[in-house]
Amino acid sequence: MSKTIAFHLQKGGVGKTTISGTIACQSALEGIPTLLVDVDPQGNASSWFLTGDLEYELSDVLQGLCYVDDAIVEVPNVENLFVLPTFGIGGGLKTYAETKIAEEPYVLQDLVQELKQKFDRIILDLPPGLGKLERAALIASDEVITPMTPEVFSLDGLEIFIDELKRIRKNLRSQVKHERIVINSYDDRIRQHKDIFNAALTGVFKVYKIPVDPVFRKSQEANKAPQVFKQRGKGLKEKTLEAIQGLNSVIWR
Ligand SMILES: Nc1ncnc2c1ncn2[C@@H]1O[C@H](COP(=O)(O)OP(=O)(O)OP(=O)(O)O)[C@@H](O)[C@H]1O
Ligand SMILES: [Mg+2]
Repeated sequence: MSKTIAFHLQKGGVGKTTISGTIACQSALEGIPTLLVDVDPQGNASSWFLTGDLEYELSDVLQGLCYVDDAIVEVPNVENLFVLPTFGIGGGLKTYAETKIAEEPYVLQDLVQELKQKFDRIILDLPPGLGKLERAALIASDEVITPMTPEVFSLDGLEIFIDELKRIRKNLRSQVKHERIVINSYDDRIRQHKDIFNAALTGVFKVYKIPVDPVFRKSQEANKAPQVFKQRGKGLKEKTLEAIQGLNSVIWR
């Protein structure tokens, strides 16, 4: 069965792209063709995995300027990983999101339906915010998983997101599931991180942790999958790998 997942919270810098990209890699490395759709006008997921000139991007597909197959790119060195890119510089998604998407709130949902003919696993990487583009992506998803950093205001951000999601479900007739939280950049030596994890556990959500690990940033700088990146023989920490494998093993069901 095919499934589309978005990792989302309206807050910036909580690890949406890092977790989207890392889970897409994990799924692909385990042998399952996986598509990462870059729905962020910043194009961070695309510049992480793809270098060199590309001809087409997501906004071209959405505007009918090319076929979807012409825009999807296979990631070099990560078998089974595919990206439907957005150009951070000179790209058209920002303008599209500011103008046309208002009249076409279901455009991403329609695209995902088409993509599901080709991919059983699709991940959407969203920009921060809860505007029209993010809403269109959320209703295109079967499940949204919320990444958050273990900070004081994160739980407030989650409350706001839950509230907005209720409205989106009602107004846009969506049944997107929201039952998991990922506490990202978790450090078990820090008391506050433990407190926030425990506070998150008291709610209705299943709560997962991804440890703080400098290899995420380094692998992004090196345009590599974090699971295969090595610097002086060192890659992701064992517990980071376990956390990623664990998360990937439960979310696609
Ligand atoms: N578990 C982690 N350990 C250490 N660094 C991390 C971790 N997760 C993310 N980062 C780093 O934090 C920064 C922000 O992460 P990321 O870009 O994934 O956030 P985002 O939510 O996608 O941001 P935006 O809202 O701008 O799209 C990046 O430099 C990334 O490498
Ligand atoms: Mg991002």
